Amino acid sequence: MKILGICGSPRSKKLSACYKILEHTLEATGMEYEIVRLGKLNYTGCIACLGCVSDNVCRLHDDLRDLRNKIIEADAYVIASPNYYSGMSAFTRAFLERWFQFRHRGNDTTWGKLAVAIGVGSMSGEPVLDEIEKMLMYNFVKIVAKISLEGNPSCFYCGYGNNCEVGVPKLAGISCPPPDKIPSILDDPANREAAENAGRLLAKSLREGYDRRLTSLEMQERLSERFQESV
Ligand SMILES: Cc1cc2nc3c(=O)[nH]c(=O)nc-3n(C[C@H](O)[C@H](O)[C@H](O)COP(=O)(O)O)c2cc1C
Repeated sequence: MKILGICGSPRSKKLSACYKILEHTLEATGMEYEIVRLGKLNYTGCIACLGCVSDNVCRLHDDLRDLRNKIIEADAYVIASPNYYSGMSAFTRAFLERWFQFRHRGNDTTWGKLAVAIGVGSMSGEPVLDEIEKMLMYNFVKIVAKISLEGNPSCFYCGYGNNCEVGVPKLAGISCPPPDKIPSILDDPANREAAENAGRLLAKSLREGYDRRLTSLEMQERLSERFQESV
């Protein structure tokens, strides 16, 4: 069993709360995993050329081409994205748009697979979770656990400190800590516990076995309900 971890934050491993919590979640699974940092790759979103409909292979020649096999080979996914303006990061969205290539006839690459969604915002990661869940649903992937966590405002690192007139500390009325006192998302035991629980639950679901075909049907039904609700 292999899990593919996707980090939708473009920031470095050292700074990114998404990366840290993603790694902690994957470690808790006790399974083999690999983390891909989308911010290191060059790619675009889907261009709707429909080139993939005949053989389920995206025609765009960019860095996501190499990732295609990893998506196919993975038994499950853990996807972490920062909250950017009340939604997932553009890196995460463009990446998931390209899963359109797996949605055509004669393809069940992702159908019935399992996932964990992680959203991190300076105030909330919740808006990210809804978006990841919705996009994975189109590929009949079932989310077994969702984690919404609070990280630091990205601007804590800008260097202007409490002199800044426009950043989150000013707007939210909070103090901007000096660089060496900026907390890590893993400092908070509740965050670590949330990640560990999600990782363990994913591993349990994978180890105890589940019926991919039934899971896929369940997701098809859910998607169909969603379509009917929005008509
Ligand atoms: C362009 C941009 C937009 C952001 N918008 C929001 C937002 O709407 N809500 C929120 O809670 N945090 C927002 N944030 C803060 C980030 O979500 C937060 O710093 C998060 O920890 C970043 O994840 P990372 O540390 O993995 O990069 C924004 C940050 C950036 C850079």
